[in-house]
Amino acid sequence: MHEPQMSTERTDFARAEQAAQFVLTRTKLRPKIAVVLGSGLGAFADELNELTRIPYQEIPSFPRSTAVGHAGVLAIGKCEGVPVAAMQGRVHMYEGYSAQEVAFPMRVLGRMGVRAAILTNAAGGINLEYKQGCLVLLSDHINLQGRNPLVGANDERFGPRFPDMTRAHHKPYRQAAMDEARRLGITCFEGVYAALLGPNYETPAEIRFLRTIGADVVGMSTVAEVIAAHHMGTKVLAISCVTNMAAGILDKPINHEEVLETGERVKGQFIALLRAVIPQIAADMG
Ligand code: HPA
Repeated sequence: MHEPQMSTERTDFARAEQAAQFVLTRTKLRPKIAVVLGSGLGAFADELNELTRIPYQEIPSFPRSTAVGHAGVLAIGKCEGVPVAAMQGRVHMYEGYSAQEVAFPMRVLGRMGVRAAILTNAAGGINLEYKQGCLVLLSDHINLQGRNPLVGANDERFGPRFPDMTRAHHKPYRQAAMDEARRLGITCFEGVYAALLGPNYETPAEIRFLRTIGADVVGMSTVAEVIAAHHMGTKVLAISCVTNMAAGILDKPINHEEVLETGERVKGQFIALLRAVIPQIAADMG
């Protein structure tokens, strides 16, 4: 029997620590909030003040993104006076990355001292009350990716072997985001995200199944990052943009161009919400 992986030359912890130290040498800012920007939201990072941009390929052990619309840059700067670390682009398991690789940047950000993460994504709307272009604050998720970043020997320096997931999505942040969305006149719901491996969009039968088990939106990202963040005690706010109604709801196929177009159309609202909620989260941290 082979040993569970632990001492492959360097542990994930050592690699995350090394990457974190590298990033911290590049900027004087010490972000406490991370933002992971899904496709099309890169403009948020471009608008940061005192901006430092670090391409992923310069950061030791960082995975590089291959998806269209994902720049692959870690942007550190100030948003409304609050230092943040924004990931312009993420990697996905459907690109062939392991759950550990997908979650690695979250761990680096955690080791940099980040205590809250805002994760954004594009998703298909399953809940029939939703409309294309609305935002959904995730109250919970269902991991159907068949993968988990915590598989393998557990490193207690990150967190416990069997982490509780009851409060993986931090309710006070969600409430703050909902209040800000109302104030800004943005159509926003609360819902449950189902994560599938992809890369194909779901079948109509899969969408009926997902609705039956309690999912409101479906996507191919975010959950491994939520798990790794929560494992290390990083509080999570995850927000989906419903770029399309899920398969079989409308009498038409889903295509990636439509997903990108909707993302493009609502990015102004999405970014406005991020800018409004970041100072609230920073204030909550004291
Ligand atoms: N399904 C899965 N992922 C997605 C979708 C979808 O309909 N839209 C955007 N990302």
